[in-house]
Amino acid sequence: MANYDVIVIGAGPGGYVAAIRCAQLGLKTACVEGRDTLGGTCLNVGCIPSKALLHASHQLHEAEHNFATMGLKGKTPSVDWKQMLAYKDSVIEGNTKGIEFLFKKNKVDWIKGWASIPAAGQVKVGDEVHTAANIIIATGSEPATLPGIDVDEKTVVTSTGALELGKIPKSMVVIGAGVIGLELGSVYKRLGTDVTVVEYLDVITPGMDGEVQKTFQRMLKKQGLNFVMGAAVQAVAKARGKNTVTYQLRKDDSQHSIDAEVVLVATGRRPFSDGLGLQDLGVEFTQRGQIKTNAHWQTNVAGIYAIGDVIEGPMLAHKAEDEGMAAAEVIAGKHGHVNYGVIPGVIYTHPEVASVGATEEQLKAEGRAYKVGKFSFMGNGRAKAVFAGDGFVKLLADKDTDRILGCHVIGPAAGDLIHEVCVAMEFGASAQDLAMTCHAHPTFSEAMREAALACGDGAIHA
Ligand code: NAI
Repeated sequence: MANYDVIVIGAGPGGYVAAIRCAQLGLKTACVEGRDTLGGTCLNVGCIPSKALLHASHQLHEAEHNFATMGLKGKTPSVDWKQMLAYKDSVIEGNTKGIEFLFKKNKVDWIKGWASIPAAGQVKVGDEVHTAANIIIATGSEPATLPGIDVDEKTVVTSTGALELGKIPKSMVVIGAGVIGLELGSVYKRLGTDVTVVEYLDVITPGMDGEVQKTFQRMLKKQGLNFVMGAAVQAVAKARGKNTVTYQLRKDDSQHSIDAEVVLVATGRRPFSDGLGLQDLGVEFTQRGQIKTNAHWQTNVAGIYAIGDVIEGPMLAHKAEDEGMAAAEVIAGKHGHVNYGVIPGVIYTHPEVASVGATEEQLKAEGRAYKVGKFSFMGNGRAKAVFAGDGFVKLLADKDTDRILGCHVIGPAAGDLIHEVCVAMEFGASAQDLAMTCHAHPTFSEAMREAALACGDGAIHA
């Protein structure tokens, strides 16, 4: 008899959610985690701490730029960096302790330490071997740095070090205009750092809707971020208290360099499954180092499942959570399901950027007949009242059936607004369904309805 029905390896959003769902479904469950706290990258050194710093730095921005306009006069706050980091740490602690509580409540055992899988059905932690009928690997990802760059997490940092800098740097080069680079670049820009983003492609946030990319970059430039586009970073050299980043411009192969106190390497993440012993077990991998799984998150080895960043698909906490719940349901004999066509993506800058479903570029490439309903937040009274009129909602619907195919939002609370379209898409709704739904006034969400109206007879406030 195995000790457990399920052992989950990794307590990030994929792993801890899988463990809780397994326990809720009546399976005897343990979760192995080697960090001192639960929550994985997301809670400890990713999504949650970066949101704390984004929130704090945005408050400063409001005080500096908008308070006087609203008649709020007085001394503008100055930054106590130590205290800001302490606030961030308290947010992390509250969340990681919350998961500990949920584990206790649901009777999930936390096995502390780093796991390996000596054989199917066995999980070794330290000197102890635990047995389980099913194993879920949820070991996540790690930053993918570049060759020629020596990350010390002090002045040449990944997102992990960028959340713990000893002081606010005077200058920062961000390598990569993806989600991490732009979120953390925004934080430091607002705190007074001179930030330059160096990006290989000619557009920021690859994969996003083209119109959103352009508007987003324009807004970030207006906020003071500098961009060097079409530039392949080749190396970072450290000398006398500064870092020199060398890059080659793709258009003419010319060589350039730029100095900065701190360099943030944000060039993507790679799946992490080191030390588990998967090669010896014969677990199959994709060419990109992801664990191969079938439609039920099963690897090619019976009884071993994998979910989240360590398998294929977008590296997003909520995608991992969905897979965690679904894999638990499959193990419990139910029908776990993830709709990969409706996974939202959000960038938590100010304004926020959010998207779900197809981009206009994808629809064009597929040769699909579609219509666009667009609405500017300038026509939204609530947005104007809070200095957030810049930005828009763009809804894409099938030209013949009116079925919603995608939505792209740049503007206030975009990361929350997008979910009404996610729900609509789950139900196969048309743009007209959204347009006929009463939206409270005055809310930002009226902009979503207006975009839906624009897919039909026209928006009212445009
Ligand atoms: P990313 O893949 O989003 O962006 C990396 C960027 O670096 C790309 O634009 C790429 O063209 C550029 N790049 C690569 N090599 C380069 C070079 N040599 N020189 C110049 N530019 C170069 O990766 P990022 O931002 O590091 O994020 C990693 C993962 O974490 C992503 O999958 C992201 O979705 C996830 N994440 C999600 C968040 C969210 O949902 N809000 C927040 C943070 C991370």
